[in-house]
Amino acid sequence: MSSQVLIASNRGPVSFTMADDGALTMRRGGGGLVSGLSEVARDTDLLWVCAALSHGDRGAVRLAPGGRLDRAFDAGPVRMLDIPPTVFHRAYNAVANSTLWFVHHLLYNTPVTPQFGMRFRREWESYRDYNGAFALALAEEAGPGARVMIQDYHLTLTPAMLRVERPDLRIAHFSHTPWAPPEYFSLLPDDVAVEVLSGILGADHAGFLTARWAEAFMDCCAAFLGARVDRESRTIIHDGRTVRVGVHPLGVNGEALLARAAEPDVESNMAAIRHMVGDRKLIVRIDRTELSKNIVRGLGAYREFLAGHPEWHGKVVHLAFAYPSRHDLPEYREYTAAVQRCAKEIEDEFATEDWDPLILNVHDDYPRSLAAYRLADVLLVNPIRDGMNLVAKEGPILSRRCALVLSREAGAAAELGADSLLVNPYDVSGTAAALHQALLLPEEDRAGRCARLREAATALPPRRWFDDQLAALE
Ligand code: F6P
Repeated sequence: MSSQVLIASNRGPVSFTMADDGALTMRRGGGGLVSGLSEVARDTDLLWVCAALSHGDRGAVRLAPGGRLDRAFDAGPVRMLDIPPTVFHRAYNAVANSTLWFVHHLLYNTPVTPQFGMRFRREWESYRDYNGAFALALAEEAGPGARVMIQDYHLTLTPAMLRVERPDLRIAHFSHTPWAPPEYFSLLPDDVAVEVLSGILGADHAGFLTARWAEAFMDCCAAFLGARVDRESRTIIHDGRTVRVGVHPLGVNGEALLARAAEPDVESNMAAIRHMVGDRKLIVRIDRTELSKNIVRGLGAYREFLAGHPEWHGKVVHLAFAYPSRHDLPEYREYTAAVQRCAKEIEDEFATEDWDPLILNVHDDYPRSLAAYRLADVLLVNPIRDGMNLVAKEGPILSRRCALVLSREAGAAAELGADSLLVNPYDVSGTAAALHQALLLPEEDRAGRCARLREAATALPPRRWFDDQLAALE
């Protein structure tokens, strides 16, 4: 049975773990992209093509005829690709997460990295193979004239590859990350830069979370491909084809989030947090321990705030939830250790018998995160750079009175900036001052800002975000 609407992404809606006796347990896939798209997939007739990420996933694929999990497990229509582990590792860890992610989030320590040598060339070859495996699977599964929605930096080459296989399809690509400005994108070897851009331009529609990232993409297409870019109509002419560029600022399904956050497990987490911190003010952050999230500078800002404002000692607690992420990469393991070191230093410097100024938690716990949102007086979201940042949108939906301290480099700043306290993420002292200002914000001001933030955060929930892109392919 062929499909008329297909999604392709690295991470899929389900993942599997394998016990020692070989038994498989199925779970919901993780991450922002997956939760947004899962909501859409639940009530749309579509096929989701994703990669097997783990030993457990590979075990599941091998039991599923043609990799179609819906035929072997009680999952929605999913085809999981069993890409050889070495190819997958190079494509996902080395190219997608250590190269393209670093380029778009401006994460390199340029005196030392990147170094594009022979090793990178092998990795790039794997990235091509991995993208090719997706193109092939999509070409097999798509019905005539079907619409195919390809997601993110893992799959930049798939649109062009798929077009070669199936020129009848209508293809969209969506970037959930920022897009690098040409001066930084030019760190990539020239041929790789060209391949990435022309790969995406194999689509009919290239989507971005904000106008800023869409413009950076168009700038790169003009600079590296010599493509004809019309910024007014947001179109790019390349290789005799016209590609439309769309801006789709993904938001949150407010009703569903509020309903989830009203469940008993969240209520009991709220009680536990209150028991721990008493009636002290709460500064909350919730992130993956991800280099771009800028957790170390965030802790530095809190430390500076405490050092400069002894009047707040004993009256405020910082709840920092920093969940594990990408621990296959040494940079991420080191970063987690740096976050823990910083937290320890703050405790050593300021903690007293009856006051713990900082509670750092590195274990993923969704109900506890929702509880923290509901209790927050201040929400700190200070990424170096971020495609959107849904934490900044979820917080004001769940708290009627939290003040949002937001990095001007987060995509969310385009919609939420006017009602946030905007900060330069590198400016630790500026962030410390914003935390102080946020704590002092009067109640009426908080409520007014929160209401407007909520409206902006729910303006484009996942369902409409997806439908708009489908419609753009008509
Ligand atoms: O920010 C884009 C995004 O695809 C997120 O949706 C997701 O959380 C992340 O990047 C990918 O992370 P991971 O490597 O854990 O899949």
